[in-house]
Formats: sequence, C-alpha cells, structure tokens
Amino acid sequence: MAVLANYFDRHPCEPDKKVPTPVTRENMVHYIYVPEDPHHADLNWMYASTETMFSGRYHLAPGSMFTPPDVHQGDEYYYILNGTLTIFNPKTGQVVELKKGECINLPKHAPHKGYNFTQEVTEILYLIVPSVWQKGEAGPPPYDEANMVLLNDLRAEQGKREGLAIEKTDTKKLGIGCWPTDPVAVRETGEFVKVNDENKLRTIHGREFPIPVNFFFSTDLGHMGEITIPYGGNGPRSMEELTLGGDATLFVHEGPVTFFFPKDQGCYTLNNDEVMFVPAGTPFNIINYQSKIIHVIFSVGGKIF
Ligand SMILES: [Fe+2]
Repeated sequence: MAVLANYFDRHPCEPDKKVPTPVTRENMVHYIYVPEDPHHADLNWMYASTETMFSGRYHLAPGSMFTPPDVHQGDEYYYILNGTLTIFNPKTGQVVELKKGECINLPKHAPHKGYNFTQEVTEILYLIVPSVWQKGEAGPPPYDEANMVLLNDLRAEQGKREGLAIEKTDTKKLGIGCWPTDPVAVRETGEFVKVNDENKLRTIHGREFPIPVNFFFSTDLGHMGEITIPYGGNGPRSMEELTLGGDATLFVHEGPVTFFFPKDQGCYTLNNDEVMFVPAGTPFNIINYQSKIIHVIFSVGGKIF
C-alpha cells in the first residue's frame, strides 16, 4: 500500500496546481488491493485523489471476493460497468445484488465485502467522498471476520434491521444534496441503498441545447450520475457550459467524447474508459462529434455548484 498512499490527495495534480487533466492508461494508478493477500485482492485503477474525493475502477475476478471488508472515512458510491456484484455488510447481514448499470451507496463507516458469484468479470466504478481512509493510514482498520453475520446468525439479527433510515427519510428534503435518501440518517444505520433506472434523480441541463443529467447519488459529501449528449442537428451537439463546485472525474462510458475548456480553449477527445479530471470551479463543455449518443459518468467531491 505504500505505493498507492504516495498518490493520496495529489493525483493527477498536486493540490495547489490543479488543471484539467486527461487520465488515460498511462497515468491511472494501477494496483491490487490488498497487496499483502493477492489471493483475495481486487484489481484497481485509481483516477483521482484530492482532498474532497477519491475515484477509480476495480475488477473482481469470477468466483472471487475481497478480504478484509472495506471501511471508509467517507461515503462510497458504485456504478456497475459490467457483470454482477454481490455486496455484503458483515455487521448487519444485509446483502444486495447489483447488475450492469445499477448503483449503490455504501455509507461512511459501513463495512462492505464484495463477492463475484458469476462466471464473468465484475467491473465497478467507484467514488469515495471525501477520503478513503484516515489521514496517514494506507488501509482500513482491521476487521474481525469471526463476527460476520452469516446465514446461521440471521434469525437472531433480523430484529435489529427494523426501522431502517430509508423508511424514515423526510421526502420533502429529497433532491440535489439529498438523494435517494437522507445521507445522514443512512450513515447512522449503515444500510446500503441501491439505485437503478427506476429511481435516479432526473434533471434537464440547458434551455436551448437541453441534455439529460441524472444523479444516482447526491449528498452533502459528493455526487455521482450520468450525462447523455444526443447527436444530430445543425452542428455538433454541445452541452451548455457547466461549472462544478467540487473536483470531478468524468468517465467516458460511450465515446469518443470531446471535452472543451473555454477559459484556455483546451480541448481533449477521449475514448471509452478514459477519464477527464476537472478541478472545482473550472467551466467546461462536453461536445458530441459522433453519429451516436455519447455517455459520461460523473463523480464529484463536495458541492455540485
Ligand atoms: Fe470500499
């Protein structure tokens, strides 16, 4: 972990020198986690680590799981790029299965352990906000796996699962900063919250050149969602200029995608699985020069505006 820790809060830019930066295979931080136990490690590419966010991608091989359970100093949001993930909270016994295109909020301090019970590789995009582990630490605190709530224990544990925070969320608060549930209440119970096509927070960005912007998660700590740019018209379809309040990584899911920065006229066209790092407060456009719809997954640490 010493190697990964070297990049904390300073990738792809030093904290005082942040500029729009493409993150491609050459500068993604590639690592296995945990390196001390390669038999139970997942395969990782870290895209960005700043003081407000930590984002990247990991793969779980067929039949594998990761050990020990992970526990973070922030919320973690997943988007399943491919395959099926079974995610387990060893403390409560909660198990959720996620398929391609589905998402989950693993609240701050909630232990989680991932399994791939299928025959294909599971590929996951993750965002952790604001920070992955304690300052100065290179991994989570030790977890006593003897205490995992497994099938044999569930009869005793069922009573403890009553009164979930999801059911207690005040629906008047829902929206940007509070989606799909009250983030503070969910952190208290540690329950996982799944989002799929049915319960994304849907918005439209732009009056003259409208595009759909859908949030999977929007909390006081960060935001994850998708931007779709249609094609066709009198010119290339461009998103209307947008400026985000927090550092962001924009993952090219279906590209190529052109990112344009009006301030210095910087222009980057990135292919599938490449990422644009956009520092907080930087105006940008996304332009579609293709003859098909393009799709970007955004991950933002801190404020959205
Ligand atoms: Fe995690």
